[in-house]
Amino acid sequence: MPTSLIILAAGQGTRMNSDLPKVLHEVAGAPLFAHAMGSGAALEPERTVLVVGHGAEAVRKAAEEIDPEIAIAVQEEQLGTAHAVLQARAALDGVSGDAVVLYGDTPFIRPETLERMAEARRNHAVVVLGFEAADPARYGRLVMEGEDLLRIVEFKDASEAERAIRFCNSGVVMADAATLFDLAGAVGNDNASGEYYLTDIVEIARARGLSATAVSCDEAETMGVNSRSDLAAAEAAFQARARAEALDNGVTLIAPETVFFSADTYLGRDALIEPNVIFGPGVTVETGARIRGFSHLEGCHVGAGATVGPFARLRPGAELANDAHIGNFVEIKNAEIGEGAKVNHLTYIGDASVGEATNIGAGTVTCNYDGVMKHRTEIGARSFIGSDTMLVAPVRVGDDAMTATGSVITKDIPDGALGVARVRQDNKPGFKIKFFEKLKAAKAAKKDT
Ligand code: UD1
Ligand code: CA
Repeated sequence: MPTSLIILAAGQGTRMNSDLPKVLHEVAGAPLFAHAMGSGAALEPERTVLVVGHGAEAVRKAAEEIDPEIAIAVQEEQLGTAHAVLQARAALDGVSGDAVVLYGDTPFIRPETLERMAEARRNHAVVVLGFEAADPARYGRLVMEGEDLLRIVEFKDASEAERAIRFCNSGVVMADAATLFDLAGAVGNDNASGEYYLTDIVEIARARGLSATAVSCDEAETMGVNSRSDLAAAEAAFQARARAEALDNGVTLIAPETVFFSADTYLGRDALIEPNVIFGPGVTVETGARIRGFSHLEGCHVGAGATVGPFARLRPGAELANDAHIGNFVEIKNAEIGEGAKVNHLTYIGDASVGEATNIGAGTVTCNYDGVMKHRTEIGARSFIGSDTMLVAPVRVGDDAMTATGSVITKDIPDGALGVARVRQDNKPGFKIKFFEKLKAAKAAKKDT
């Protein structure tokens, strides 16, 4: 049975104290709403609808970058969660099957939890995700009778007895999409907040002879972000989990608490990560690779057995083949580094390819940008680039070729050739002493006047 996602993200997020809509704040290098999409991805959604309000255009733009197929529904006025769900109705027109309501500010719902909800849906029309709250505070309370969920009561509207319940509403709801919209459409706003509560659909469903139940998850999954301090706590929770997972997967982290992951970081077995390494989005590191201290990686692939750093920067499009060596103060961007190639010191390689077993000398720069356009540098296999070579792109260095140290290479170098592009050295005998005597005399003459 197909499933669609309705992600509620119209709330203002006042407590973030930000110009940025709340769901665009990032955890693990990805905006909050993208984490909710990631949770829902386990259900292979037929369609995803993001309900936006505050900062709608900015959220739409970010969402479409992540999923061009995403449907955006605008909730002009935030009249409550039931009203928000109804805004998704048009976008799901003609789509059969279930709908799952997720919150865009709740990043950690596990895919397995949604799968358990889908199982519970076999026997119940409405399935709500609940959790035993350590401190139930202002959450909605789930009123259960056996496995039946009788109703959800919001804290503001709850009696003393109901407030004593610790089984709370996470906000995640699953039901047949058409049924969900029917139920949400029947919700009124006669309550303490004057809002259209999605939580009221449970009582309405039961009054119509439909059954409801709750599936329970760990409280940590339901953590929502409402403030900067929640955001920091969410980041910390994410990082703690990512570190533990990496260790479980056979990765060595010498100082786990100093390594930072993104939501999609992949580290192969027996990779070794030294202290103070940051993985931005889109990094894959293969087995046995070593990432040395203080390196920053994003959008790159590190082949098996390769070494990177210390103090290296791999930017988007850096593709290191197996056993490549990237050393200190080296930046690689949009470039393929061949198997066993070495780029060890103080170098920028951008918009380039470097063949296998080639050695790039210290201080080499691919001059890829002419101020308007980017150009490529191609360096063949088994070549040797002398230290302080400027490779002015577009330019090609062949296989088994070399450059003289200090060269500014503007023309292609054929296979096997040496390219020399620097002024020949000229020694002037006795120059230093004579020159300094002249300078000192000039200084003394200046003082006399
Ligand atoms: C809601 C639940 C409560 C639950 C809690 C869990 C209702 C009535 N209450 O309360 O039972 O324990 O979440 O965190 O559903 N939103 C919109 N449009 C709106 C209103 C809200 O898009 O008009 C979005 C918000 O951006 C947010 C989510 O829905 O992502 C929840 O809204 P919020 O106002 O935080 O609900 P709570 O009062 O916390
Ligand atoms: Ca909330």
